[in-house]
Amino acid sequence: MKQQPLNSVTFYDFHPVQANLHDEVLRGLNQAIRGIPPKFFYDERGSQLFDDICNTPEYYPTRTEIGILQHNINAISECLGSECLLVEPGSGSSEKVRLLLDDVKPQAYVPMDISKEYLLAAAEQLALEYPWLDIHATCIDFTKAMTLPLATDEHRTVAFFPGSSIGNFEPRDAIHFLKNIANLVQPHGGLLIGVDLKKAPNILNAAYNDTRGVTAEFNFNLLRRINRELHADFDVNKFEHRAFYNESDGRIEMHLVSTENQEININGDTFRFEAGESIHTENSYKYSVEEFKALANQAGFDLVNVWTDADNLFSVHYYQIL
Ligand code: AVJ
Repeated sequence: MKQQPLNSVTFYDFHPVQANLHDEVLRGLNQAIRGIPPKFFYDERGSQLFDDICNTPEYYPTRTEIGILQHNINAISECLGSECLLVEPGSGSSEKVRLLLDDVKPQAYVPMDISKEYLLAAAEQLALEYPWLDIHATCIDFTKAMTLPLATDEHRTVAFFPGSSIGNFEPRDAIHFLKNIANLVQPHGGLLIGVDLKKAPNILNAAYNDTRGVTAEFNFNLLRRINRELHADFDVNKFEHRAFYNESDGRIEMHLVSTENQEININGDTFRFEAGESIHTENSYKYSVEEFKALANQAGFDLVNVWTDADNLFSVHYYQIL
């Protein structure tokens, strides 16, 4: 692990192994039920499209979570306590943490991301805007066990995991991830996490089928990315975007459905699709507050406080180690 100061940013590199698109796409398409992991949505274009989704009128989670954080910032700051070490796994552009910093005044902020370039650019920009903030940018794969790059005997460590990204995990994997977080913040640390709530299916279905077709384009971009990076020949006009709330499993599912019988070439390998056959591209699990609390309990976390919006669309939870 190397350290090099960079303005007020210290950089730590755990040299995470980057996912291999080719290997994972081939593995996913060779399964009986075809699927590609949603992490591959986020190339440059996909990240832009996700930002666009967040600004559609139908996609309520982002603006609702921001409202909850803003509205309850005093209570949240009180829960986190003074001078915590604020850790954010999968920090990306570190956008939402800006809503906390001035009030929480952490001893230090530890953004964690697998993408070194993106992490450094985001950390440097944050350092310009918050010159008083001690930033310890950590390049690491947050889906694996994590270690803190600095010691914290005196202060509470709090993990921040906004955006309902937890919904992308299968529930048993979510417990595993939360156990890794518990290990990271123990012995007396906390977790501030955004969780999308169960609600009327029509609201959920609309959020993933926006009328402008931004979510559809986000889904199609996965095929375009595979074409660009793996010299594949997907014709996006021969696939359709399908997103629906699967009520029995409590999740939104996104699929790309082949509209005809066709063959696709990916770097020399051929894949046959029947009309109506789908590639499962994402699950987004929805929880009631009670369901999520029970899940977090299994990972060793005790609910301290939960905040929601007036319409009960979204929730922000604060947990401490049991
Ligand atoms: C970033 C995983 C929280 O599940 O709502 C948005 C991704 N997919 N629209 C979500 C997403 C389609 C989003 N998360």
